[in-house]
Amino acid sequence: MELSKIADNLSIEQAQRILENFPYSPWQVVAATTGSYLVYKLAGFVKWWLIDPQFSPLRDAPGPDTYDSIIWGNMPKIFKAPPSKVHEEWMNKYGHTITYRGMFLGYRLCTKDPKALAHMVNHSYDYPKPAQIRYFLERMFGKGGVLFAEGEDHRRQRKIMNPCFGPAQIRDLMPIFLDKAFQLRDIWIRQVEESGQEDKEIDVMVWLTRATLDVIGLAGFDYEFNTLTEGEKNELVLAFMELFAPAQGPPFLALLSNFIPFLRMLPTKRARASAHSKEVMARIGKQLVQDKRAAVVAATSGSGGVEKKTVVGRDLLSVLIKANMARDVKDSERMSDEEVMGQIMTMLIAGHETTATSLTWLLYDLSQPEHKHIQNRLREELLTLKSDRPTMEELNSLPYLDAVVRENLRINSVVDSTIRCAGKDDYIPVSTPYTDKNGVERTEIRIAAGEQIFIPVALANRDKAIWGEDADVFNPDRWLEGNNSHPRSAEIPGVFSTIMTFLGGPRACIGYRFALMEMKALIFALIRDMAYELPDPAPKIERKSQ
Ligand code: HEM
Repeated sequence: MELSKIADNLSIEQAQRILENFPYSPWQVVAATTGSYLVYKLAGFVKWWLIDPQFSPLRDAPGPDTYDSIIWGNMPKIFKAPPSKVHEEWMNKYGHTITYRGMFLGYRLCTKDPKALAHMVNHSYDYPKPAQIRYFLERMFGKGGVLFAEGEDHRRQRKIMNPCFGPAQIRDLMPIFLDKAFQLRDIWIRQVEESGQEDKEIDVMVWLTRATLDVIGLAGFDYEFNTLTEGEKNELVLAFMELFAPAQGPPFLALLSNFIPFLRMLPTKRARASAHSKEVMARIGKQLVQDKRAAVVAATSGSGGVEKKTVVGRDLLSVLIKANMARDVKDSERMSDEEVMGQIMTMLIAGHETTATSLTWLLYDLSQPEHKHIQNRLREELLTLKSDRPTMEELNSLPYLDAVVRENLRINSVVDSTIRCAGKDDYIPVSTPYTDKNGVERTEIRIAAGEQIFIPVALANRDKAIWGEDADVFNPDRWLEGNNSHPRSAEIPGVFSTIMTFLGGPRACIGYRFALMEMKALIFALIRDMAYELPDPAPKIERKSQ
């Protein structure tokens, strides 16, 4: 008899009698159900941890046979070394495609083969960010921003945002880039003058970070941080710094919480500080969005709606809100308030430290005694511009400046690597075959859904097979016309200049034009009027990632 029919034929009295004679108490039933559920979950976890990797299609790819820990896999060695160092050693030993063990022993793929990289970045929706990275991004930016979005949400957001980062918008931002660049130049000149010496030791990283923060505040959302004049006093800056302060507690707890949701609920000091920062950011972000929207509405009052020609502020947020309200955007395609606010946080984090760190490395490289001639040649070229406030076109017309910027981005890729996972079982083609652990030559890499991939941006940018034997040398000349010394670089799927620094495909850096023009403006102001050298003794600098 079917269950529903039994229930139909059961009177309330009969049901009560059954319950009275039921041999177990409600607590026993709850305990048994919970226990069975936990055992089921635990069995799934153990299978995922210890059994699934034995069947991974990546297990035969070249790479180390041993690992440091049953929980952390090969990660302790990777964490202790400078970024990408261990991957580089393994690649030198095993070739362009390797696998090793990540957290909980899952196999991780790392390849710098250009065809494989192109496959993954161009099919970015089949290669999303893994859950633990998305959890980290959500904790930092909330769920709204484009850096967090995946699949259809990401495509929809980028469709509205891409034009906001086009050349015309960046041209409008040039005055902001130049104003802040000259403000920083004047501060440094004043510091030298006040020292009474011919030169002065300056921590350029601190000042470049302030300049780029002020730029993204104004150019991003017409918000004055004033860090160049006042230091880090602004409420939003403080909240931002608190959120990104290096962890004080044991880093393994933060790492584990990316994998084990239960740990995220622990009321740590860090969690409380983050909650406070996010509250400040949400409040200010909401106000900014409301103000900009009101400005767009005011600009269109009387006309039939928001159009391309509607004039609003030049900052990216105003342009974005205008684009999102445009008549020709379908309602289903528009970004929600949460998404628009998410972009503020995303721009803030993605759009200033990257540029500041990149410029710091450039000044460091130009200050090396063996690169003095490069610094001088660059200065000479900058002095050929008659204008004190060059246009975007004038700056872009300088071939050596362009070569220096490209070479800096190639050799000092500040986003050293990024992580993805396979969204489905797939075959990744390679341009150069590799030999697996069984001695079989392979022209593709088989990967299973869920397995992780380390995309080695910095290693691809310095790959000798692509760039030649001098791949590790800072040599802007390689970019000058006629010096076609790296014909294979055309295979690299970068959105900019055959390098991976801004990544490629639909998820490439949306702000690369912004970053390029901001860097050129800062280089113009800072190199034209001042010379740089390392202090004596020169500090020992080590690359680190957080
Ligand atoms: C030298 C400076 C910069 C470098 C090296 C850089 C590099 C990158 C890289 C590698 C990514 C991809 C990250 C990943 O998916 O794992 C990325 C994404 C992104 N960048 Fe940049 N970036 C720079 C400057 C900027 C600026 C100035 C802005 C904004 C004004 C910006 C906004 C973004 C955004 C919004 C994304 C997310 C794109 C998406 O997922 O669709 N970046 N950037």
